[in-house]
Amino acid sequence: MLKIVYWVVAIGVVIQFIRPDFNNPKSDEKVALQTDAATMNVLKTSCYDCHSNETKYPWYHNISPVSWVMAENIEDGRKALNFSTWANIAPDIKLKRLERAKQLIARGDMPKSEYCLIHKDAVLTSTQKATLAQFFDAEMKKITPQ
Ligand code: HEC
Repeated sequence: MLKIVYWVVAIGVVIQFIRPDFNNPKSDEKVALQTDAATMNVLKTSCYDCHSNETKYPWYHNISPVSWVMAENIEDGRKALNFSTWANIAPDIKLKRLERAKQLIARGDMPKSEYCLIHKDAVLTSTQKATLAQFFDAEMKKITPQ
């Protein structure tokens, strides 16, 4: 029994040496999203940790294997949608992401549930959902004005 405990502890220690790269890519003001303060507030609290280059890392970010899950969410999140490179996203792609964002928010699929477990302030209220829906609509109109 004691042997198993030793192994678990040893593995727990060894995996600490496998660290993802948590350096945020540089943010460029010129291409980063600019919008009104209310919208920005919601985005920063609920989306920016995974969808921008301004990720805020909690103290446990360097504890493996939690860090591996976080690194993957951040990498995939930035790939899917990055508000820090907003001006550089091709209009047709942006339109698709905005439409998808509207759906995901309405269904309660973003922010991710595992993230919301820890980040209670990221859970969207209905007012915040409405703020985001308005923002997505306005951005879509910029691309395809009616
Ligand atoms: C914990 C990290 C995390 C948070 C917080 C988060 N997302 Fe995501 N998001 C992801 C990941 C990872 C993906 C890509 C893979 C997937 O869908 O699981 C994604 C995908 C998306 C996509 C889909 C893009 C596509 O390819 O169609 C949209 C849109 C999106 N997120 C919007 C948001 C918005 C808006 C918020 C804030 C309200 C948010 N997300 C919060 C991690 C996150």
